[in-house]
Amino acid sequence: MYSRVIATGAALPARAVSNDEFARMLAADGIETSDEWIRTRTGIEQRYFADEEKGETTTSLAVAAARQALERSGLAPSDIDLIIVATTTPDMVFPSVACHVQAALGASGCAAFDVQAVCAGFIYALNAADAMLRAGPYRAAVVIGSETLSRVLDMKDRSTCVLFGDGAGAVVLQASQDPGILAARMYADGRYDEKVLGLTAHLKAGAVVGDPFIRMDGRQVFKLAVEGLTESAREVAGLACVRTEDVALFVPHQANLRIMTMVARKLGIPDERMVKTVAEQGNTSAASVPLALDRAVRDGMVRPGELVLLQGVGAGMAWGSALIRWA
Ligand code: ACO
Repeated sequence: MYSRVIATGAALPARAVSNDEFARMLAADGIETSDEWIRTRTGIEQRYFADEEKGETTTSLAVAAARQALERSGLAPSDIDLIIVATTTPDMVFPSVACHVQAALGASGCAAFDVQAVCAGFIYALNAADAMLRAGPYRAAVVIGSETLSRVLDMKDRSTCVLFGDGAGAVVLQASQDPGILAARMYADGRYDEKVLGLTAHLKAGAVVGDPFIRMDGRQVFKLAVEGLTESAREVAGLACVRTEDVALFVPHQANLRIMTMVARKLGIPDERMVKTVAEQGNTSAASVPLALDRAVRDGMVRPGELVLLQGVGAGMAWGSALIRWA
């Protein structure tokens, strides 16, 4: 038994924020950055920011992406028996985003939970759904990555605030006799904790305690990301008895074009087989992989029978890869 991706969906907030607009915003606080710096160091040209006043939240984006994927799948909400949402920016501590999505889709009664593995979240959620579909009794799952990271950016910290954006991506997975997800693996090393990448605030006695913004040692993240992604890709390729060079569509976490390019080169995957949404969307954390996959599918970058490699990496540190024989 395998699980197969039978449809994808995506949702982005209405407002795009260009690098130039960012530079002007930061300049108002006496902080210098430029389109040139951001573009050459990261590959990012713009990102989308949700507007809560207009009802754009982690949940609303997740619902929109899930609805699109579900419509394209041809399944009814009542066919879905599992919903997993990967997110670092839930709209509330509880109930989970997944339970809200379930209600909005009209899939009441099915299992629904959130996964917190930051930018590796979608790969973790996909891995969990794949294992649950293969083991049964689950038959169909909606797996979503959704984020509104703009809420947790320190707009006075130029080394982090220019990197991230908001959005959601979703896939519908179905149990099948035919492959399918061939191999998926997730890893973590908690020794590389919030000193490398973290958001350390918590709620206590009605107040936010601690630092409510993302903090990062960019160079350390860069190094660990390249190592983890390269190793985990080789691992899943080995498990599936294929070569990374044979991957037809490479869908890496869209953190930074330089990380993506370096990993693709190490794996022997030509640049034209790598999907790139980072220029337009920035780093959308758990949403980046399903958003990029949806773009690649819409652009006709993958055909049935071809190999697709998905990868995520983020705080924890946590990372992982999934190799799919496209249905
Ligand atoms: N504009 C202008 N200057 C900046 C900016 C900015 N937005 N940000 C940092 N700088 C300055 C720094 O202050 C520093 O100045 P200094 O030399 O006077 O101290 C200088 O640029 C160089 O800073 P570095 O941090 O050394 O720059 P680097 O070339 O390493 O690039 C970057 C920084 C882009 C963050 C890089 O380290 C990187 O890509 N790391 C990966 C991190 C990442 O992608 N994180 C995403 C979240 S985690 C994830 O999704 C995996």
